[in-house]
Amino acid sequence: MVTSSNSHQKILLTGVNGQVGHALQALFSKHAGYSDAIIALDRTELDLTDADAIRRVVAAIKPDIIINPAAYTAVDKAETAPELAYAINATAPKILAEEAAKAGATLIHFSTDYVYAGAKSSPYVEDDATQPLSVYGKSKLAGEDAIRAVGLPHLIFRTSWVYGAYGNNFLKTILRLASERDALRIVADQLGAPTSSHSIAEAVLAVLSQLENGKPQNEVTGVYHLVNAGQTSWHGFATAIVEEYTRLQVDRNWPPLKVTLANIHAIGTRDFPTPAVRPANSCLDCSKLARNFSVTLPNWRDALVAELQNLTQFRSP
Ligand SMILES: NC(=O)c1ccc[n+]([C@@H]2O[C@H](COP(=O)([O-])OP(=O)(O)OC[C@H]3O[C@@H](n4cnc5c(N)ncnc54)[C@H](OP(=O)(O)O)[C@@H]3O)[C@@H](O)[C@H]2O)c1
Repeated sequence: MVTSSNSHQKILLTGVNGQVGHALQALFSKHAGYSDAIIALDRTELDLTDADAIRRVVAAIKPDIIINPAAYTAVDKAETAPELAYAINATAPKILAEEAAKAGATLIHFSTDYVYAGAKSSPYVEDDATQPLSVYGKSKLAGEDAIRAVGLPHLIFRTSWVYGAYGNNFLKTILRLASERDALRIVADQLGAPTSSHSIAEAVLAVLSQLENGKPQNEVTGVYHLVNAGQTSWHGFATAIVEEYTRLQVDRNWPPLKVTLANIHAIGTRDFPTPAVRPANSCLDCSKLARNFSVTLPNWRDALVAELQNLTQFRSP
């Protein structure tokens, strides 16, 4: 646990060892005031399957803001573990919301593009009908609904395709496979926005500072799309990873990849069956975030280059 006194409001952060939790903690620790304002808990310090623990921790800390990036994120495994997925993604946010309401705190929560069916031909806006195709998507939507039902001041950020230098994600998997194999086959008919954990953290910090500076909560409470700008397919993302890594590698003495761009083959979703069905269109329109908070996230490809540069500070792929 990381904690001390502060000049900012007191923030309780869950899931600090996850991609978004880690990025938030890393960013907060660089900002004077925030590093002291945050109480960041991992799963051993706050297990979200333990309702009593949630109530006890929130009552003891009395936060002004709760940020909850912790989640059950194993999309395919959720198909055969619905009870656990719902416990963490639906029941826990409900209890967090109830306890936040008692403490007079604002709840900042994260959700997903997988709440949509993906049949729309243009980017989704927040008012579009939800129709999750997977247990994971349904459990995340149930969490959103539970927070809305409690009726406290809240922000729910629906994000997509999260990756970064820290954690297990598509970027890491592609770099590993590209260094082991001559050829890759990647799905090209699912569209969305790869979103770096650092971009999410930067955007959340920008929003948070506006809340702290008195932005009226009743005017901004609700659900927001929060993804890097632009769109691509998983195949486009994989190609960009290999391309940008190869470009950066020349000057940095990084190990070369085995795969060449010509050998990253586009395949269809039907050629790569998974237990959970994914939406074909995961593109999210972020105009509401820009309108209400003047926050826009960088283009996904620029964010990728930034994350690649961070990656090598940890280990080469
Ligand atoms: N990853 C994506 O592509 C993606 C896409 C769209 C939306 N989102 C949403 O964005 C948010 C952040 O995702 P992420 O990528 O940062 O997820 P992540 O890297 O999988 O991290 C999830 C965190 O939740 C923690 N956690 C799991 N079960 C827990 C429990 N019972 N009690 C307490 N903590 C628990 C995990 O703890 P351990 O470290 O101990 O395992 C982990 O630190 C989530 O709401 C997710 O649904 C993610």
